[in-house]
This record gives sequence, structure tokens and C-alpha cells, in this order.
Amino acid sequence: MKEQSARPSGFQGYHKPVDGEENPELTHIDRGTKCGEYLRRYWHPVAMSSELGDLPLCLEILGEALVLFRDKTGNLGLLHRHCAHRGASLEYGIVAERGIICCYHGWHYNIDGTLIRAGSEPEDSPVYQRVIQGAYPTHEHNGLIFAYLGPPEERPPFPIYDTESIDGVEAIPFSITTPCNWLQVYENTQDPIHVLHLHALSSGVQFGAASGVEQTIDYKTTPLGMINIQSRKVNNHIWIRSTETILPNCNQTGAIYEEAESEKYFQRSAMLRWMVPVNNTVTRTIGWRFFSDELDPRNQCDRALVGKESIDFIGQTEDERSYTERQRQPGDYEAQVSQRDIAVHGLENHGSYDTGVSRVRHLLRQRVRAIAVGESALHPSPGPNGIATYIQDCVTPWVEHKHGTLDQTEMLTAFGKIITDAIISSDHLSASQRREAIREACLQAFDT
Ligand code: FES
Ligand SMILES: [Fe+2]
Repeated sequence: MKEQSARPSGFQGYHKPVDGEENPELTHIDRGTKCGEYLRRYWHPVAMSSELGDLPLCLEILGEALVLFRDKTGNLGLLHRHCAHRGASLEYGIVAERGIICCYHGWHYNIDGTLIRAGSEPEDSPVYQRVIQGAYPTHEHNGLIFAYLGPPEERPPFPIYDTESIDGVEAIPFSITTPCNWLQVYENTQDPIHVLHLHALSSGVQFGAASGVEQTIDYKTTPLGMINIQSRKVNNHIWIRSTETILPNCNQTGAIYEEAESEKYFQRSAMLRWMVPVNNTVTRTIGWRFFSDELDPRNQCDRALVGKESIDFIGQTEDERSYTERQRQPGDYEAQVSQRDIAVHGLENHGSYDTGVSRVRHLLRQRVRAIAVGESALHPSPGPNGIATYIQDCVTPWVEHKHGTLDQTEMLTAFGKIITDAIISSDHLSASQRREAIREACLQAFDT
């Protein structure tokens, strides 16, 4: 028998460290920080279109105080909040035909920050040569407003992913605020074992009952980031779920209430969302929740609950339940926020199931450091249906006689690898061809 070293004796509170490294390289996001510069090479959603009325909207994104407005011509402006003249907030500005006019002395800025008119200054005033208001480009897409906060010369094409427009799938925008650092919200989906513990054992089954079934877990790097592959035997089916991380701060998850009851191949995303840092200790998750009959065969989801600070599944916000209820049945919100304002990586003790979290951090660290030494950010090219992504669920019959000498765990792991290869190797194909390739891979697995 393997010799066990002695466990630490109890009552060690006094000797435990009170402080540790919070890993600023990955968690601090202000302009000029390593991670802040990395994130500033990508488009991020900053608001839902429905949030923007006729008045300017105050926003904080990546630690920057901003205002978002739609001028009377219909163009969006995203400007630094404090007027370049003497700092009054443009949240009190007058939205103009073109751009916005500061309320204090009438300086008038276009949506790109250029000074149209400096109030009562003479037309030949030198301020026209000197002054520009900080501004960022925006792009409105399917009910969300995106912005690019990086160097103008590095602005990438606006990305559109293959899960955004699928026939029969309705995309509903949402936005949820979580008062903690962005990374602990982001890395959560590469921590698949929490689905079993937090969402089934600790709090009772919060999503589909099948998600509480023991799983084998594997991880794979993709051209966009990584997936984890969860393989489960649910009654007489094998269910293979891949959950996707798209660097730097986007992810996709499968159907919320998947029960793996019937055969299906390459069922796509239930949610495409970005974890956008508001500042170092507040995160806004903004994205689309996807609805279709395939994703919700039992009609358990609710479009009406999806929107500003609200989504149709448990445990994502503070206001949805009392503190006592949240203590009795904690969800993602409670777990993530309670890791501290910024999770202290130096105080963590990782086990074998933290592989996914370590891998996300490793991938981020590589990219953060590449940007810091002057490399360009990686931006994927679109395929026939937009940028190919790797989120999927497939459910296929468990065929007993095809196991050979493998036990159930080995069988699930092997099956997961076969499906993963099919998901990745089919990424140049159309959606229907990809579905067929994955179905073929399922049917041929172990068919010797
Ligand atoms: S502070 Fe804005 S115009 Fe003076
Ligand atoms: Fe979760």
C-alpha cells in the first residue's frame, strides 16, 4: 500500500498566511496594465441597446469612466465621461444632431471626440488645434452595443460567431453585474466539477438532473481558446458536452436543462457571453441567451426573465433570492463573489480537478505576455457560417457490446476524445456537414 505522509494537525488558524499574491498580471485591467492592454485588443459588449434612451448612459468599462449616447442622427458615441475642457460629466450633456454638447460651457464633441464647437470660444481659438475628447469606436449588433477600447491602429474586424444566427434560434440580450474580479467569473466554466458539487450536491439539482450524474472530464485547446469535454452515461445514452472558452473573455455553454434523453448531434449554444471588467472588482456579463425547441424541449426556460440584471436560471444575481435562501442553495453568484473581491491565487490549493482553471490561466498568461512584448493579438478568421466555435452537446445510444475491454470510465473518456477530434477537425465545414461528421464519429466509435 502507498505510504501516506501525515496530514497537518488541526487548529492551525494562527499559522495560516493572511495575505497572498492576487496575480495582477491576469486580474488587473486598467489601461497600461498587462491584462488591461490584452483585453483592449478586442471588441467587448458594453451595453444592451435597450438600455440606451434619449439621455446619455454612464458606463464604466475596463476601469474607464465613459458615457454612451445615440445622437439625433442615430449614431452611437462612446466618449470619456469628463469633458476635456474642465471636466464636467457628459452624462449631463445635451445630445445633439451630431454628437453631444457639454452642459457647462457648451463645448460640442462629435462621436469620434473631435471638437465641433468650443462654446463661446472664437472660431480661430487655438483650442481647436489642441483639444480632442477621448472616444472609442462602437458597433451595434443584434441588440448589443460593442466597443473597442484599444489602440486605433490595432482595431480588429468585428467578430461574428457561428452560433449567433442559427435557423429557429432566438437570441435575447442580457446583462448581469457581479461584484468581483472578471477572472473568477470567466474561469468558472472551465471548472466543470463544480456542476456536480455546487449545482447538484450542495444546492440540490439546479439545472438538468443529468448534470448531477458523475462525469469524466477532459480538456482540449482549440483555435479560439479551449473546451472542456464532459462525458456521462445517462441511462442508456452517452452524453458528451463541450463547454467553450473563447479568449480573451468570452464563453459558451450548452442547454441549461439538458436531460440527455434522446439522440442528438452537435446541438449548439444556450448562451454566448462576455465577462467584461467594469473595474478590477466588478464584472458585467453581457451576451445573448439562445432559445429554441431543441435547446429546451420541456419548455423549462423563460424568455421573459432574460434582460437587465436578470436571467432565467438560478443563482446568477444577488437580488433574486434572500440571503438565507442563497446560503441554503448557493449558486454561481455566491461561489464566485465569495472568492473575495479579487481571488487570491497565492492562497489557493489546487487539486487534480483544477486542471481547467489552471489551463485558462496559462492560456491567458501566454497571450497577456505576448501583447506585453509587442506581439499582435490573435483574431480568428470567419468560415462559411461566421467564426467556427466548438460548443456542442451530443447524445448517442450506449451500446454495451462495443465496450471491448474498457470499463465505463475508460469508455466515456475514449468516447469523449473521439467526439472532441470530430468537433475540431470539422471546423471548416458548414453547420449541417459538421453535425453529420459528429454523428458519424459517434456511430463509428468502437465499431471495429
Ligand atoms: S467643462 Fe465641459 S464645456 Fe466646460
Ligand atoms: Fe455554474
